[in-house]
Amino acid sequence: MNTQHWIQHFEANTRLNHKMKLPDVPCTQPAQTRAALARSLAIFQLGESGGGTRLRRYTRSIASLERLQGYQRAVDLFVVEEQSHAALLARTVAHLRGTLLQKQWSNSVFRWLRNLVNLEFNIQVLLTAELIAEVYFGLLSLRCSDPVVQTVARKLLRDEMGHLSFQRDFLFERLISLTPAMQRVWRWQFRMIHLATAWVVSWDHRNCLRALDVAPSAFRSRAAQCWVNFQTRLERRLREHEVQARHSAASTPGYSRSSSATMQSPVS
Ligand SMILES: [Fe+2]
Ligand SMILES: [Fe+2]
Repeated sequence: MNTQHWIQHFEANTRLNHKMKLPDVPCTQPAQTRAALARSLAIFQLGESGGGTRLRRYTRSIASLERLQGYQRAVDLFVVEEQSHAALLARTVAHLRGTLLQKQWSNSVFRWLRNLVNLEFNIQVLLTAELIAEVYFGLLSLRCSDPVVQTVARKLLRDEMGHLSFQRDFLFERLISLTPAMQRVWRWQFRMIHLATAWVVSWDHRNCLRALDVAPSAFRSRAAQCWVNFQTRLERRLREHEVQARHSAASTPGYSRSSSATMQSPVS
C-alpha cells in the first residue's frame, strides 16, 4: 500500500478544512427545512467527531507488516481529517441555528457495530458510512440551495471520495490473503451490512430527504449504486493481482506446468 501518498494527501487536504472560509450569509431556508437539515447534519457531525481510539489501537497491531509500513501514521491523519469534518459540520449546524448532539441512537449502534470484530471489520463499517456519506453529501450539494450547506457538502463529498480510495487500498491488501471463497463471503456480508445501513439512514434522515425532495427509495438506490461502483473497482484490482501473481509464477525459473498445479497463488 502506498501509505506515503496518503500521508501527503491527508497532510495537505486537512489543512484546507481547518482554514476553510464559509459564505458569510444568513440562512434563509424555511423553518421546517432548516430544522430538518440541522438535525440531519448534527447526526453526521456526531458520527465524524470520534477520536478514533479503537481504530488507532487496532492499527498498531498490524503496523509491523511490511506492505503496511506507514499505515498507522496515515490512519492518525485520516482521523484528524474526520475531526475537521466534524468542525465544518458544527459550523454548518450553527449556521442553520440547530443544536449539536451528544448522543443519538443510530450513531451509538454504528459505533457498537464498528468495534465488534477486528480492524478489517471496523474499517468496513467505517467504509459503509463513507459510501452513505457519498450519496448524502452528493444530494445535499445538488439539492440544497443554502450556500453554506452547499460549500461544506461539496468539500466533504470530495474528501469522502478520497477516503473511499484510502479504504479500498487497505482492504485490497487484506483481501488478497483470503481464498476466493472467503472473498465471496466477505462481499456478501459487506453488501448486507451496507443494505441495512442504507435502510436505517434513509429512515432516520427521512425529514431531511423530504426537505430535499428525495424519496427514501431513491436514496437507497443511489446508495446501492455507490456500493456496486466501489466493489467493482476493488474486485478489478483483486483480479489484476491474481493474473499478475500467476504470470510471475509462470515466469519464475524452475516453474513448470506440472508444478503449477500444486502451486498456491496468493489469492487461491
Ligand atoms: Fe468524514
Ligand atoms: Fe470519511
